[in-house]
Amino acid sequence: MTDRDHAAADITVDVRIDRADWARHLADETARGLRDTPPWIPPVWFYDELGSKLFDEITRLPEYYPTEAERSILRAHADEIAAVTGATTLAELGSGTSDKTTLLLDALHRAGTLGRIAPLDVSEEVLRDASRALAARFPRTGVRAVVGDFHRHLDALAMDGTGLLAFLGSTIGNFEPADRARFLASVGRVLGDDDWFLLGTDLVKDPTRLVAAYDDPAGVTAAFNLNALSVMNAELGADFDPDAFRHRAVWDGAAGRIEMHLVAIRSQVVRLSVLDLELRLEPGGHLRTEISTKFRPGQVADELAAAGLRVERSWTDPAGDFLLTLARPRPRSVRR
Ligand code: SAH
Ligand code: TRP
Repeated sequence: MTDRDHAAADITVDVRIDRADWARHLADETARGLRDTPPWIPPVWFYDELGSKLFDEITRLPEYYPTEAERSILRAHADEIAAVTGATTLAELGSGTSDKTTLLLDALHRAGTLGRIAPLDVSEEVLRDASRALAARFPRTGVRAVVGDFHRHLDALAMDGTGLLAFLGSTIGNFEPADRARFLASVGRVLGDDDWFLLGTDLVKDPTRLVAAYDDPAGVTAAFNLNALSVMNAELGADFDPDAFRHRAVWDGAAGRIEMHLVAIRSQVVRLSVLDLELRLEPGGHLRTEISTKFRPGQVADELAAAGLRVERSWTDPAGDFLLTLARPRPRSVRR
């Protein structure tokens, strides 16, 4: 379903998520996760309207360094990215507010190549707001937004001419290794020979800083994590008591990732009526709500290579906290 969103601005919103189908998919995923040991939930429950606002607040916390680190890389290298790629379409996955993205768009606009913006996000309200803001800022640029799942709807991206597909914020770190490989392979397939991929990844560093970034003293991250329970209450007919849980962030050095947990404060039985499932938790028992993988030098290039993508350039911020990688498909003729 495609509609004209605004009389004057050139915006279309392609809604690829069928509500009923999506609800069934999330219910299945959640039931699968809750039956696992330890139980986990799909992170998409974070991003309702309140959750998206809380995430936006997280990105402005002093402890949450990744957003500013990535922004500083974009500020320093956006013109170089525009010159190297000559991109006419900027597509973005999990675009959210597309806030940092405007640095790239400004550079492509300055270079005179920008013709189209194609953001994709699962959160329809945030995407519509962002699309309006983008259309207002770049009035002669068509916005082709997709309400979709980045695991399933990459084919919906309307890339016209030379595409630059951006996936920022180290959102790829939220995928399990197998999902990450599958996802990168699908990026490799969807990109044409002249297209580009721009990937933001957070890097391994001192665990104290890592944990602080996911467990801030103001409690914003805790509120964000606990909000997933309220969303499940509304969407899955569950009766989670958010006051019966506390937020915890732990660094798993062997796996190279932060894990976000919700720890049961007391013994409890939670009913999820839509799933026809009961979850029993003892004090100290936990739900895993998110993983955030931190990458080692070389790891990103290796994983991209496995997906048929070759690194052309990469940059870090001055402190070396965050990595931005510009890659492109290996020519099809020499791919195995
Ligand atoms: N790119 C922004 C936002 C990152 S937060 C930044 O760098 O700050 C992650 C974003 O991904 C949110 O906007 C959320 O709504 C979106 N998202 C989460 N799961 C998704 C999915 N399965 N498919 C598409 N978008 C998803
Ligand atoms: N992609 C972000 C990250 O891994 C998402 C995020 C930031 C997040 N803070 C969070 C997810 C807290 C869950 C809980 O850094």
